[in-house]
Amino acid sequence: MRILIVGDGGRESAIAKKLAGDSRITKMFFAKGNATTEELGENVYDAKTVVELRDFAIKNKVDLTIVGPEATLVDGIVDEFTNHELKIFGAKQRAATLEGSKAFSKKFMQTYGIKTAQAVVFDSYPDAKEYLQKQKFPLVIKASGLAGGKGVVICENLEQADATLEDFMIRRIYGDSGIQVIIEDYLEGFEASIIAFSNGEKLFPCIPVKDYKKVGNGDKGANTGGMGSVAPSPQFNDEHMQDFEKNILQPTLEGLKAEHLQFKGFIFFGLMVTKNGCHLLEYNMRLGDPETQVIMPLLENNLLDVIQDCLDGKELDLKFKDEKAVCLVMCSGGYPRNIETGFEIVGIDKVKDSQVLFAGAAYKGNKIVTAGGRVLNLVATGDTYEEARQKVYEDALTINFDYGFYREDIAKF
Ligand code: AMP
Ligand code: GLY
Repeated sequence: MRILIVGDGGRESAIAKKLAGDSRITKMFFAKGNATTEELGENVYDAKTVVELRDFAIKNKVDLTIVGPEATLVDGIVDEFTNHELKIFGAKQRAATLEGSKAFSKKFMQTYGIKTAQAVVFDSYPDAKEYLQKQKFPLVIKASGLAGGKGVVICENLEQADATLEDFMIRRIYGDSGIQVIIEDYLEGFEASIIAFSNGEKLFPCIPVKDYKKVGNGDKGANTGGMGSVAPSPQFNDEHMQDFEKNILQPTLEGLKAEHLQFKGFIFFGLMVTKNGCHLLEYNMRLGDPETQVIMPLLENNLLDVIQDCLDGKELDLKFKDEKAVCLVMCSGGYPRNIETGFEIVGIDKVKDSQVLFAGAAYKGNKIVTAGGRVLNLVATGDTYEEARQKVYEDALTINFDYGFYREDIAKF
């Protein structure tokens, strides 16, 4: 089999490592990949749009394509590939709207009784501004469209809410993504990520994951793509799982069926668990990053078999090791704001107990240099969180690149 993986992050490195060594796979292509994927296959730099990727897949006789990032799904890659009888694993364009439009997904949640925060969707700036006058704070304002994870602001007071509304709807700091906004009740609790495989009929959830979203220790500072992750989430217990299945997973499946949105791919539930149980904050129609990095080492099933079974509409029996996994993300100085790249990464050869997954890192000749905000991930497993945690932190000490940094408190409970 010849496989194409779309994306270039640590998530795609984790998928690639999981598939590598499967004797059925003769070649892996990555568009555009990174330093890890270059070691496992061929990075492809000139196929970026859906049409270019389709032509690449046809020309290179790709048997299966797996899609990492949301933008490519929202652009309709799955529909385009399917129309050309190319096998692909991911959400179709209409289903991807559940991630691409928060207004659409909020309406979907409300229609199908999926437990979520109370919210109102606005297209009109004056109406939204007027609504704010009567609200209690804190509250949450979200740009409806994709904004690279930055389109959500927790507003502490009316002044900040007014400014956010103006940024989104008038100044359009996220372009058309801010044409519609969602004004939502603030929920207090802990967050958990659950990713499920869809076989077109049913959803099969993986173990719950804890993602560390804030840049600084103690969950301080700006939101990021994710600074680390732990699986299984130490906070999410069996009772939470039952609550999730009944009030979120099941009604989601009913909604997908009723709206003819079924697909064969991944669906990610971003949850807030309050004292009143699980609430759905958002859907992502893909694997999470850095959630994937801790799910893959614990997944006992063969990943290619699981994907193949989903594509064939078969039932899954997902099994996970009874171990803990920790992922530490090492970043470029300045992340998630302005970063400089091109610094050599040294010390990888001294890493002992962790898997190194490159993300924003690329080969330059024989050297590996930084090429993005989240540079690399260290992933380790152990019988306890502490054991896995010590492995990644000891290995982090051996790796160096100028201005690099990481959080000190991943998996420290
Ligand atoms: P979202 O993209 O909708 O998941 O929002 C990004 C982040 O904003 C979430 O991971 C939460 O940390 C936070 N957030 C979103 N909605 C709420 C809410 N209703 N209450 C509290 N925090 C929220
Ligand atoms: N870690 C959350 C995400 O992938 O969006």
